Amino acid sequence: MLSEEEQETLTRELARYPNRRAASIDCLMRLQESRGWLSDEALADLAPFLGSSVHELDSLATFYNRLHRRPVGRHLIRVCDSVSCWIMGSDALCAALRGRLGIDLGGTTADGRYTLLTAQCLGACDHAPVLAIDDEQHLGLEPEGLSERLDRILEGAD
Ligand code: FES
Repeated sequence: MLSEEEQETLTRELARYPNRRAASIDCLMRLQESRGWLSDEALADLAPFLGSSVHELDSLATFYNRLHRRPVGRHLIRVCDSVSCWIMGSDALCAALRGRLGIDLGGTTADGRYTLLTAQCLGACDHAPVLAIDDEQHLGLEPEGLSERLDRILEGAD
């Protein structure tokens, strides 16, 4: 069941769209902000509000990489693995982060602080390899000095 506060937030979101279904992705984002991730229960709560089916919402939530159908950490680390970053060493960057955080791709640290994911092009190809923590990009993460840069980046996330 949507809380009163969630209903108010979602109703404000609807005002920006011509109909309820057009607001689906932004409403999923707002509900995810409220609950941390999109559980089956969250989709079942939202579906009647939007006049959609749970299946339709699940299709959206599993397609868009900013929507999460599993619990995630407080900070999302997204390493670009598209072609420019891959050529410039995104595999080494991922390996360094996996070792540093003690998790595999898709995993979340035991303290719930970080979830490590890959991402399609983050739009900074001329500064490859690139990662983003939440909405902040970190550019040019080449192997030389990587450990020290990761220290500063991860310290700055909280
Ligand atoms: Fe990585 Fe574009 S390929 S930012």
